[in-house]
Amino acid sequence: MKLTAQEKAMFDGAQGPAVQKAMDLLVRYGRALGAERLVETNNVVASVSATTPFMRDFARQNGGMDAVFSQFSLDSDEVVKIPKIKAFTTHTQLGFDPEQAARMGVDEEAVHFFRKGEAFTTGLGIQATNTCTPYQVGNIPTRGEHCAWMESSAVVYCNSVLGARTNTEGRESVGAAMLTGRIPYWGYHLDENRLGTHLIEVATPIESTADWGLLGYWIGDKVQEKVPVVTGIGKTPNLARLKHFGASASSSGGVEMYHIVGITPEAMTLEQAFGQRKPTEVFRFDAREKQGILDKLNSTGKDTKVDYVMLGCPHYSMEQLWELTQLIEGRQVHPDCELWIFTPRSTKALCDQNGFTRIIEAAGGHILSDSCSAMSRAMPKGTRVVAMDSAKQTHYLPAILGVQAWFGSTADCVEAACTGRWQGGLK
Ligand code: F3S
Repeated sequence: MKLTAQEKAMFDGAQGPAVQKAMDLLVRYGRALGAERLVETNNVVASVSATTPFMRDFARQNGGMDAVFSQFSLDSDEVVKIPKIKAFTTHTQLGFDPEQAARMGVDEEAVHFFRKGEAFTTGLGIQATNTCTPYQVGNIPTRGEHCAWMESSAVVYCNSVLGARTNTEGRESVGAAMLTGRIPYWGYHLDENRLGTHLIEVATPIESTADWGLLGYWIGDKVQEKVPVVTGIGKTPNLARLKHFGASASSSGGVEMYHIVGITPEAMTLEQAFGQRKPTEVFRFDAREKQGILDKLNSTGKDTKVDYVMLGCPHYSMEQLWELTQLIEGRQVHPDCELWIFTPRSTKALCDQNGFTRIIEAAGGHILSDSCSAMSRAMPKGTRVVAMDSAKQTHYLPAILGVQAWFGSTADCVEAACTGRWQGGLK
């Protein structure tokens, strides 16, 4: 791999042992990927937390968070002192919300450790945004900017909607990226890998956020990790619709980049989306396909008595919370059901300021931050049946927690929360 003089100096240890180990890791990683060089990045989304019992024990036995970072972010058995980061970095979601630990079944000792870990993290200069939607809370790279992001739903949004460039990185590569400001130059950093491969012709109206989630889920299933190009969309989707679309396409498949002709920045025309290529396959999404994919998504849903309604996967935006307040104000969550909504912590602060928290709590719902049920494996006690407006969470939760799951619109979910019954379906 070719290194610049500055990279070579980091590799040789001129900036200390942590940076040396980071550069060594990037070189090994880049070689394995076939990358010829590194690229500069000043935008990282990372996880450096230690929220599992195993990691907490590891920290205790080996000298704290420097040891955790050395081992799990730099692949180093030797504990090195971690310096301040070089690249702007925001933290991805975590294992629980420290403000709602009791509700999530997390003990005090874990919260205490969390706070120590967060002091270490912010001390390095990492922003404690703690969300899978960094682009909703201030981390918004520009078109063409090279990034190093974790979290599949964030990665697909970064590439497709923002036109910035990232692969789906892991804890180690982002750890090394934040200390060096470098990441291997391969995959979606390169123009040719960003071109479309499959054409998707949409032949049924796609309007609600749930429609976008279903379309994404169907497309991911069809194209797997390839780059779909979508045509036939009439109405320009908002942030929440594109967020749900990408999150579901990266769940049923491994989509990291998509184009919507006339809407996303690298697909103003069909020709631009495909470059000189022809689509390898063409798929058509119509009303029958839409019903079919809904049935597939709801295949675990048997009982209509709903114990838990989970909203906020990916983390809810301010607009979605505003919509929710309109649906729920003056209503009451059923005594046999719980409603939890997940959002970034800074959005939760805005909810507090704007009276949204008061409206939602008056109805019996709870706003949580930093995590989600899939990440935390936390649900209200005794939950058997969950209703959600996220195709991604509906895909994962039955497998992770063994529950039945229903997918529908946000309005369907609010209805389920207030009646304790699932009555959703395509309208
Ligand atoms: Fe975010 Fe959890 Fe969904 S981390 S994308 S809310 S599975």
